[in-house]
Amino acid sequence: MKDWWKEAIFYEIYMPSFCDGNGDGIGDFKGIASKLAYLKELDIDAIWLTPFYKSPKIDNGYDISDYYSIDADYGTMYDFQVFLDQAHQRGIKVIADLVLNHTSSLHPWFLESRESRTSPKRDWYIWKDKVEGHQPNNWESYFGGSAWEYDEKTAQYYYHAFAKEQVDLNWYNPEVKNAMFDVIRFWLDKGIDGFRLDVINFLGIDPTLQNNPYDEEGKQIHLHDKDLPIAFEIVEELRTLVNKYEDKVLVGEVGTEEFEIAKTYAGQDKLDLIFNFNLGSIQKFEVKRIFDELKKMEKENQGLYLPTLFFSSHDMPRHITRLVDQDTEQTRAQMLCTLMLTATGVPFLYYGEEIGMTDLYVDDISEMRDVQGILTYQRMIAEGNSVIEALEASNMCSRDKSRSPIQWNDTVYAGFSQIKPWICVNENYTKINVECQSREVDSMLQYYKNMIRIRKKYKALYKGNYELLDRRNDVLFFIRKYKEQRIGVFFNFGIKQDTLHLESLSI
Ligand code: NOJ
Repeated sequence: MKDWWKEAIFYEIYMPSFCDGNGDGIGDFKGIASKLAYLKELDIDAIWLTPFYKSPKIDNGYDISDYYSIDADYGTMYDFQVFLDQAHQRGIKVIADLVLNHTSSLHPWFLESRESRTSPKRDWYIWKDKVEGHQPNNWESYFGGSAWEYDEKTAQYYYHAFAKEQVDLNWYNPEVKNAMFDVIRFWLDKGIDGFRLDVINFLGIDPTLQNNPYDEEGKQIHLHDKDLPIAFEIVEELRTLVNKYEDKVLVGEVGTEEFEIAKTYAGQDKLDLIFNFNLGSIQKFEVKRIFDELKKMEKENQGLYLPTLFFSSHDMPRHITRLVDQDTEQTRAQMLCTLMLTATGVPFLYYGEEIGMTDLYVDDISEMRDVQGILTYQRMIAEGNSVIEALEASNMCSRDKSRSPIQWNDTVYAGFSQIKPWICVNENYTKINVECQSREVDSMLQYYKNMIRIRKKYKALYKGNYELLDRRNDVLFFIRKYKEQRIGVFFNFGIKQDTLHLESLSI
């Protein structure tokens, strides 16, 4: 079906944490393939896989050292192909996560680039001289500290928006673009159904290297290191390239919570979808904020724009922990599920949310896996903080929280693996797991399945427009309409019962 993604429900799988098929404690293609029946029963339409290419995994695959091969932890190219074919046989599409902004520092391109100032690959990355004995400017890495790393061998700095092992490519160099476009063709030729494009608005930096400003709290505003005209140009070229294939989708991770910026990357000649962090990363369960964001997105929807609907991902705390408290756990989580599956947009579920998985906290730094958490710990210790303070701060920002193995059952390691997994299993696996929720009629899993069933039954819910989107005090509601079909959905964000008279709504 053309534009299949408009009606699809996506499901994000964090590669190492879904199912270990070969007994090494790390999720892999064989494992995921063995769970396709589960995903089919849940009735999702497309899987987004986090990066599976060869990688030293400083940032768990977002540091690719070979774009043409499968990381041995996840299996072989054959395993990938078997998984892809089996998914397709079941009518499930698969999109791959692609990191175009940076490569691993162990990628042969970078190894060649750092060899000498005259290396043919020197200009594939961003190298700059010292300025008055220091870094070329004040730009900070998203993982903290300077975004410039000094390389003794050639006495220059290189630029990295993330960890120093994730080196930014120079997208002003056409050779870089050609090399990456070859990568894209390679995976499309293998039959992948599209891409989730990592930090796509980071391609290219301001060549004048102006310093970034700071906000009142002293936090750097990333003004000159992203959203440059070149990022838009590349997005358009990507579109042209991908349009040569049939029915492929491009989903952009546009690193911003500002809807006004994010939406500019989406459209007919650009990306099909962008992640709406303006709604997805809200920190509070708050009717006003959710309503305002839905409204903003609705306005844009008059054109071709379709929002994405999600509240969790591998980069943020799980929303059941972030937005829900113990007393309201079940109800709020169900409300958010309903919202994602009935509001206008494309839902992106995150593995494990369908059983209400909660955040993982580690009590020893040796168990922390996320680079962001580890770097924070090291910085805190270097600044003289205690182990407890450093651990607390690193747990706060660590993305391990949402990356623990999915809890399949109550056997050891939650049925994810036979041996100790690469990351801790959440202790609550004996209570929260797929197997027991499959048996209970009023479990979260059954709720998700029912909501998915309802969404798929009514065209108004996956094709319709809002006839009305409004709010009265704590009650947010909308009516979606497709031809003769109209469906109204009402959400009471308050703690008290409320009554709404349909006659009072201007319909
Ligand atoms: C965004 C990804 O989602 C995140 O996990 C990663 O650390 C950064 N991009 C850098 O690639």
